[in-house]
Amino acid sequence: MRVKARANSNIALIKYWGKKNIGLNLPAVGSISITLNELYTETSVEFKAGLSQDHLVLNGQSASAPDTGRVSRFLDIIRKRSNTGLFAEIISANNFPTSAGLASSASGFACLALAGSSAAGLDLTPVQLSELARLGSGSAARSIFGGFVEMKKGLESDGSDSVAEQIAMRKFWDLRLIIAITSEEKKKTGSTDGMIVTRDTSPYYSAWIESSENDLAEMRDAIRRRDFEALGELTEYSCLKMHALAMAAKPGLIYWNNTTIDLIHMIRDLRKKGLPVYFTIDAGPQVKAVCLPEYVGQVRDEIRKNPGVLRVIETGLGGDAMIVGEEN
Ligand code: PMV
Repeated sequence: MRVKARANSNIALIKYWGKKNIGLNLPAVGSISITLNELYTETSVEFKAGLSQDHLVLNGQSASAPDTGRVSRFLDIIRKRSNTGLFAEIISANNFPTSAGLASSASGFACLALAGSSAAGLDLTPVQLSELARLGSGSAARSIFGGFVEMKKGLESDGSDSVAEQIAMRKFWDLRLIIAITSEEKKKTGSTDGMIVTRDTSPYYSAWIESSENDLAEMRDAIRRRDFEALGELTEYSCLKMHALAMAAKPGLIYWNNTTIDLIHMIRDLRKKGLPVYFTIDAGPQVKAVCLPEYVGQVRDEIRKNPGVLRVIETGLGGDAMIVGEEN
């Protein structure tokens, strides 16, 4: 059976950076994200007799060996759990730039977990899907759920409680994100390599781990109270703290370009002028501005004035990962 799924990307308001177990992909800290409606991956999977290896088509092209290898290793977990030895044909596409700090691995592995496990005949609960997706990418565990989502670092050594959960539905609070694309290039240091060098060399790593529980508690509270200023201040704080941590690694990781920095200043200036907008940035140069619906037009117009902004994507909060097609 070929199963097609769709999963939305997500953006962390309280960031995850650092792994406590590389093999099981266990995060060293929890994180809180919002799931994004307009950025998604669609993937279809079919396990087929007669294939001598997995075949991956990514964004319309036969995928590179490293990309296929990562997907194959993930499908090996599903093959083991479902007792199948068959290889698969996987067709996957993102509706946004891949590997440029827009969390394509988040939507990609959440989608692959759902499509792959269903195609193999496994009927997993959302929590089990989240655990499976985590093995592909930490942030993917969050993309199983819509709305506001918390990823728990978990206590169990086997990772069974290192899963995400929804903390509020998308309808609870209509937040908007305006994403400024400042480069469409693939990033130079992927998040896993970046996290390893940070853990091994950044002197701020222990402080990052120690201070994380407090950030999560404050963000949960800001969401519960729908306090936009508190949410925005915490979002910028967590973003800058993560980048400072990574910049202090040896060699330091700098994911930003000139436009990224210009936009940081611009957003802070807009706030001084009375426009409630805050930024966040992942392991890439794109800037994501968070605001309430009534300010979307103004924020978009201001961001577009910067000549370094290649294009702008607007999105609200998205829903759960879901199956969109099945055929025999
Ligand atoms: O799960 P990964 O490997 O895509 O790493 C995600 C890291 C950040 O995007 C920078 C932060 C986060 O929590 O999403």
